[in-house]
Amino acid sequence: MIEFKNVSKTFSLGKREVHAVKDVSLSIKKGDIYGIIGFSGAGKSTLLRLVNMLERPTSGSVFIQNVDVSSLSAKELRTQRRNIGMIFQNFNLFNSRTVAGNVAYPLKLAGVSKQEIHERVKELLAFVGLSDKAKDYPDQLSGGQKQRVGIARALASSPEVLICDEATSALDPDTTADILRLLKKVNKELGITILLITHEMHVIQSICDNVAVMEDGEVIESGAVFETFTNPQHPMTQRFIQSIQQDLPSEKLLDEWRSKGGTRLYRVIFKGEIASDPVLSQVTRKHGIDFNIVYGSVREVQERFFGNLLISFEGEPEKIQKVLQELEKIVDIKEVIKDES
Ligand SMILES: Nc1ncnc2c1ncn2[C@@H]1O[C@H](COP(=O)(O)OP(=O)(O)O)[C@@H](O)[C@H]1O
Ligand SMILES: [Mg+2]
Repeated sequence: MIEFKNVSKTFSLGKREVHAVKDVSLSIKKGDIYGIIGFSGAGKSTLLRLVNMLERPTSGSVFIQNVDVSSLSAKELRTQRRNIGMIFQNFNLFNSRTVAGNVAYPLKLAGVSKQEIHERVKELLAFVGLSDKAKDYPDQLSGGQKQRVGIARALASSPEVLICDEATSALDPDTTADILRLLKKVNKELGITILLITHEMHVIQSICDNVAVMEDGEVIESGAVFETFTNPQHPMTQRFIQSIQQDLPSEKLLDEWRSKGGTRLYRVIFKGEIASDPVLSQVTRKHGIDFNIVYGSVREVQERFFGNLLISFEGEPEKIQKVLQELEKIVDIKEVIKDES
C-alpha cells in the first residue's frame, strides 16, 4: 500500500543541513494500522509529509499503491491527495465554520453537489458520534469532540489511507482511549489503512499491528507490535517499552521484600497463550515449593498475553533448583537479584 524505498529528506537552512529522514525503507500493507514512534525531532512528521506529498524526498522514492508519487503531475497529485486523509494534534479546524461546515469543506472543494454534501456530512457525523453537534462551532466542543470532527473531515473524501500526526497527544487518557477506539473502527469497518505517529508507547500498544521506531531520522527497529514489545532489540526501543512497563519495583518495595527474608528474585516472562496457564503453580506444587509474586504485570498486546513477573521461591534449595530447571523449559526465566544469605 505505502512503500518507502531508501527515502531521505534533507532541509537546507542557509549553510546548515538538517537530515530529517535518513535512508528509510518501510512497507505498510493495506488494512494495517502502522505506528511510528520516536521522540520529538526524530523525523516522524517529515516522513508523513512525504506520504501526503507536502514534501518531496531528497533521494529515494515513496510508492502509494505501486505508484511513485514523485512521478505524478500536479493534477494526478490532487487526485492522489484526496485518497489520503490526515488528522493532527491540534485538530486544525476552521473556528468560523460549524462542525458540519468543517466536514463539508473538502467536499465543497471537490465540487460535490449540495444535496450529496448534506447526506455525506450527516452520515460522517453519525459515524463519529456527533450527530447532535452539527450546528455547533469548534469553540463549543471538547478536545475529543474536536478530534472527532477532524476524523469526520478526513474521511469525507472516502480516502483509503488515514494519516495521524500525534492525533491523541493533546488529549487526556480517557479521551485518548475513545479516539483510539474510533480509529480502530475506521480501520475495521471502512477498511482504511492507518499510518500514525506518536511519542507514546501505549498508543502503539493499544491499536497498532506493526511499529517502526525512529531516532535521529533513521528507522532503528521495525516489526510486528507483539514481537517488538516482548523482545525489543535496540536500547531506544527498550526505553519506550519500559516507559509503560515499570518492570522493576521501587527500592522501598525491595527493602520490604528483603526484610521478610527474600534473597533471590527471578523474572519470569510469559508470551502468547501460556500466560493464562497455571504453569507456575503446577510446577511448584509438584516439587512442594511455594512461590511468591513480588511484582509484575500481565498485559494484553495485540490480543495476546505478555506477562512479566518477579517471583521468589520458598523451600529446600535442591527442590527450588528442580523447579527452575523445569520452568526454564516452558517460560523465559532469569535471576535478577541474588543476595548472599
Ligand atoms: N521545513 C523544515 N525546514 C527545516 N528543518 C525542518 C523542517 N521540518 C522539519 N525540520 C527538522 O527536521 C527534524 C525532524 O523534524 P520532524 O519531522 O518534525 O520530527 P518529529 O515529528 O519526529 O518531531 C527536526 O530537526 C526539525 O527541526
Ligand atoms: Mg512531529
